[in-house]
Amino acid sequence: MTVREICELFNIGGKYVGCEEVSTGNINCTYKVNYIRDGVDKSYILQRINKLVFKEPEKVMDNIVRVTHHVRMNVIKKGLSTKKFVLRAFLSKETEQPFVIDEVGDYWRCYRFIKNSHTYDTCDDLGIIERAGTAFGRFQNCLEGFDAESLFISIPDFHNTKKRYEALHKAEAEDVKGRVKKVRAELDELYKMEGLACELQRLLD
Ligand SMILES: Nc1ncnc2c1ncn2[C@@H]1O[C@H](COP(=O)(O)OP(=O)(O)OP(=O)(O)O)[C@@H](O)[C@H]1O
Ligand SMILES: [Mg+2]
Repeated sequence: MTVREICELFNIGGKYVGCEEVSTGNINCTYKVNYIRDGVDKSYILQRINKLVFKEPEKVMDNIVRVTHHVRMNVIKKGLSTKKFVLRAFLSKETEQPFVIDEVGDYWRCYRFIKNSHTYDTCDDLGIIERAGTAFGRFQNCLEGFDAESLFISIPDFHNTKKRYEALHKAEAEDVKGRVKKVRAELDELYKMEGLACELQRLLD
């Protein structure tokens, strides 16, 4: 199926104009899709979810719906703009699920495009990093009262820094490709942070 055909399965208004691939992501395949509605340009993000990484895409989408619903309620309570502060996932016209499935069984999702947004793959500007921290803190604040136990664990131990460090120590000790000497400085830098990086996991345990 084409990007256009997939878009047409979602409940988004207007007329399809075109699409461009977004190359900043690491995992999913992402397109910015341009529409026009009543003479106004509209953009959406269309993503094919990587099934090798996310084995149960329905459950990932269920997590996203639960989180965005909770955030939306708190954003409304704070009197802020939901359009500005809450991710919106569009539903399938046919199934009303927040995804559609194409002819080869791949899952696609569609979000409102966040206008004027900019993605940094790397960033040396502390001001920008600080603003990202503020945004993340605001997002967490809007999760107040959310039952995290209700979420599906999409990738077990993904954030388990203790296990990540254990794997790193093991890989260093084995050094199967003889590359440890080339990354000594990077490893030492990471080991300096080990205590702090594992603190949240320690508290969780
Ligand atoms: N709603 C949105 N509005 C604007 N740009 C977006 C939106 N969603 C995603 N993008 C852009 O698409 C890129 C890829 O999206 P995303 O980060 O969700 O996928 P990924 O990197 O493949 O997977 P993940 O980050 O979940 O590991 C983002 O880095 C961002 O540039
Ligand atoms: Mg990403």
